[in-house]
This record gives sequence, C-alpha cells and structure tokens, in this order.
Amino acid sequence: MKCRKCKVPAEISLPSHNTAFCRACFSTYFTGQVERAIDKHKLILPGESVLVALSGGKDSLTLMLELSRLGHDVTGLHVDLGIPVSSAAARAKVEGFCAQHGMKLHVVELIKEGLPIPDVKKYINRPVCSACGKIKRHWFNRVALEGGFHCLATGHNLDDEVARLFANTLRWDAGYLSDQGPCLQAESGFARKIKPLYRLTEFETACYAFINGISIHSAPCPYSGGASFTGHKALWSNLEYNSPGSKISFYDGFLKRGRPAFALVEKEEGHELSPCTSCASPTSTEVCGVCRLKIAVTERRAADPDRATDRVRDKA
Ligand code: AMP
Ligand code: FES
Ligand code: ZN
Repeated sequence: MKCRKCKVPAEISLPSHNTAFCRACFSTYFTGQVERAIDKHKLILPGESVLVALSGGKDSLTLMLELSRLGHDVTGLHVDLGIPVSSAAARAKVEGFCAQHGMKLHVVELIKEGLPIPDVKKYINRPVCSACGKIKRHWFNRVALEGGFHCLATGHNLDDEVARLFANTLRWDAGYLSDQGPCLQAESGFARKIKPLYRLTEFETACYAFINGISIHSAPCPYSGGASFTGHKALWSNLEYNSPGSKISFYDGFLKRGRPAFALVEKEEGHELSPCTSCASPTSTEVCGVCRLKIAVTERRAADPDRATDRVRDKA
C-alpha cells in the first residue's frame, strides 16, 4: 500500500478514512485533526495558557507534545495518586517527558493532601475508581483556577468519547448528554475543559506516541484492572471494522443534533452552586464532595487500630 499523499510505501493504514500514510504524512494528518478540533470548537484562543492533565499514558503525553508544537503555552499537571509502585512509575514518566522537552510541570501529591487513593479504597465504601475520578477532576479544576490558566486539557480520544457517549445513551442520562463534548465552557468556579484529541482514535494516538519516541506508562491501574468502558470499546471496534467511519459520525452527529436538544431540557433544571466552605470549589452543598471524602478518610484512619500500630512503629 502507498501513502495517499506522497506515494512512498505507507506505514499506517487508517480504514476509517479509507486511506494510508507514511510517517511524515501521518504526522501532518494528525496535526490537521487537532487543529480542526481546536478551530471548530474554539478550544484554545490565541495567546491563551493551557494546563494539560498528564497521567503518563500515551494520550496525554501525545497531547502535550502536539499542543506545544502548535505553539500553545502549555503547562503539565500530574496528580500523584499515592498508589504503591504504580504511581511512582507514572509520575517518573511524566517528569522524564517534561524534563526532556523543557516543559513546565505542576505535581499534586495526594499523600501530602491527606487523601491518597489507597486510603480512599480502604476507608470509603464506594467504587474506588469513581471516587478517584472525582478527586482528580477536583484538582484539575482547582489548579487551573488557582494558577490562572485559561483552560484545562485532557487526553480523551475518540474511543474514550464514543464509549462514554454510548454508556450515557444506554442510560438516557440527560444530565451527561447535555454537556458531553470536546469543550465545556467556563462558568463560575469552573475552568473551561477541552479535549483536543477527540477526533483521533486510540490507535492513532498510539502511533503518534510511537513515532515520536514518547516513553509512556502503559501498565493499567492496579485498582481498576484495565481501561474503562472496555466492553463498549470492543463493541464499537467491531462496528467500526464493519462500517468504517461509524465512530466519528456517531460522535459528530451527537454534537450537531443530540447535545443541543438535551441542553435545552437540562437548562431548566440547573442546581445553585456556591463555594465550598473548606476549599472554595463550587458545590451544591456546604462542603464539597472531595472535602467530605477527606474528612471521612481522616476520621476512619485515626480510628483504625492497624494505623495506630503503624504510628507507634514510625515514632520508635
Ligand atoms: P483516564 O480517565 O485515566 O482515561 O484519563 C483521561 C485523561 O485524564 C488523561 O488523558 C489525562 O489527561 C487525565 N489524567 C488521568 N489521570 C491523571 C493523573 N493522575 N494526573 C493527571 N492527569 C490525569
Ligand atoms: Fe484511580 Fe485507578 S483508581 S486510576
Ligand atoms: Zn471543598
């Protein structure tokens, strides 16, 4: 197979686009998709500063490199979850990447914040992944606002977005369906959130990371045992195989016709938000969900006899 643009032997086949590219033309194509996403949804305006949430995985590191190559003012944000072995490995990838490219990086350490994920797992009786997601989003927003960034970018790709949209649709979750998309506008207490890779598949971001020699953290989280929405993703990969282009047309169609309809309904049912009395993050209760988690974890940790033994041992 030959590269569609320059006719040298192709290295990357993209059936969804009925095409194949050599490395150089793939990079041009990739950049074109990111620019198209940014322009179409006004994700980043000229001169704006972007805080990029970096997990150490292929998507977020790819995003950081591409936005920086496009000339955007980027700063990385890594949330160190405090999970033994796995968190140190992920953080090392992020720190190594930012040092190699001379990029700014901000790290939040959940151990220092009193809310490491192993303690959340131990003391909170709810799925750890959902609590962890909530804590990460809390810090993304907080650092973006406190640091005066114009927006917060995450590495969600087309497969992530389609799987999430599909899950929301299966439940007809009007709340989520009213605002899922590549750009969630800023409102009081919330930074603008953007997903510049939403037009690119997981395969395409993996190719970009490989071609550019990005060293990634690929081990799954020990608590979740793998990627989210695995079943939905498998289903969609089958659909895409049989009918190339299904993913992007489902997602684009939703943005054009589905989301506006749900947004109309949801607008009438908005909740009043005010700053959390402890950390100032927006919340519909007096103290926000993350501060309540922190209080619960702190209390249960203090009452835990195993931890009391640890403390005596630490002091000795
Ligand atoms: P995930 O939900 O793990 O698929 O991650 C989605 C996106 O959230 C990633 O592409 C990153 O932009 C961001 N992210 C996930 N985990 C972290 C983390 N520990 N620190 C910073 N950003 C993260
Ligand atoms: Fe949060 Fe695994 S529990 S990444
Ligand atoms: Zn709070």
